[in-house]
Amino acid sequence: MRIAERVQQIEPSATLSISARAKAMKQEGIDVISFSAGEPDFDTPLPIKEEAKKAIDQGFTKYTPTSGIPELKEAICGKLFRENGLSYQKEEIIVSCGAKHSLYNAIMTLCNPQDEVLLPRPYWVTYAEQIKLAGGIPVILECHPETLVFSLEELKRKITSRTRLLLLNNPSNPSGVVLEKEFLREIVEIIQHYDMAVISDEIYEHLVYECEFPVSIATFPGMKERTVIVNGVSKTFSMTGWRIGYAAGPKEVIKAMEKLQDHSTSNPTSISQKAAIAALSSDTQLIQEMVEKFNQRRKLMIHALQEIPGVTFPVPRGAFYLFANFTPYLECKFEGMRIGTSLKLAEILLEKAHIACVPGIAFGMEGYLRFSYATSEANIEKGMSRLRDFLIKL
Ligand SMILES: Cc1ncc(COP(=O)(O)O)c(C=O)c1O
Repeated sequence: MRIAERVQQIEPSATLSISARAKAMKQEGIDVISFSAGEPDFDTPLPIKEEAKKAIDQGFTKYTPTSGIPELKEAICGKLFRENGLSYQKEEIIVSCGAKHSLYNAIMTLCNPQDEVLLPRPYWVTYAEQIKLAGGIPVILECHPETLVFSLEELKRKITSRTRLLLLNNPSNPSGVVLEKEFLREIVEIIQHYDMAVISDEIYEHLVYECEFPVSIATFPGMKERTVIVNGVSKTFSMTGWRIGYAAGPKEVIKAMEKLQDHSTSNPTSISQKAAIAALSSDTQLIQEMVEKFNQRRKLMIHALQEIPGVTFPVPRGAFYLFANFTPYLECKFEGMRIGTSLKLAEILLEKAHIACVPGIAFGMEGYLRFSYATSEANIEKGMSRLRDFLIKL
């Protein structure tokens, strides 16, 4: 059978394929230490699970309104008001099957064929592919090699008459960078001057260390009308498998996204929606322990990687990833061949050192590797010393 061009043009997810290979090796009995996970390794908190059980017992197992049940939308509005200082009505909210689905709906809704979408590098692997699926053109914003953040000059330089959107991810996967309020303010001026819109992926907002709670770009005057916020419960509440994400934006945009969802997935899982109410209505105490653990692991990983000669990275302050520059190691030879690419380096590390990480090229950055610290301190210690021992022998 013939595969349609729209699907042929997209790349498989490198993050998922490396995780899958690492899992397969583990099943074969190989002691692989995986730093490729894109999800917290903690269990979903008990009060959230209890709500889901209750929903099943009460027979809350049927279709719901496509865009989510009103109680969940209320909980989302409450969260946005309480934590982000933003006032939304239920009609400005849509609940989808994970934040990835919310992003897909938002990009499909806002991006016409040939529209240009500004995408800061390094970018989460899915954005570029979703833009292409919508027929849009991802226009990459280059970053400073040390900070991994784009400059305002670069932003202005890449704007053309076809630019429609900026895709922001704050805190960032893969870099862990958290954008400062002042920097966002300057971005806002440019967005408004050029009459553009923003999709702001804020899925990691609760996972920040040694810095303030991130500011949403939608909070600046005049920006709520131009922003679609994407968020969800996956990362904050360790609920990746429950598949609940949401978007908040102007009523007409949300309504259009709902039309799309009506004819694709319909509602997200009824039971998960009930669980998400418990998550979003809880106080942050529920996740405090997890955030503290992530912070300890982050420090451990920073320290271990700083010990490896030639490896550089901006200290991550958000999410649970560290994105480091391994360029000097690409020049090394392994079994007589120059390593050359981050993909090859990640493959060698997996096959020979039994460490799984994600090649930077999956995030548009050659020479880098992404390490997730959503794993135990013991694994970090063991894995990082394996990495060091392997690299210094190259
Ligand atoms: C930046 C970013 N946005 C969105 C998502 C998707 O989240 P969800 O599991 O809710 O679809 C991820 C997951 O890895 C992510 O890293």
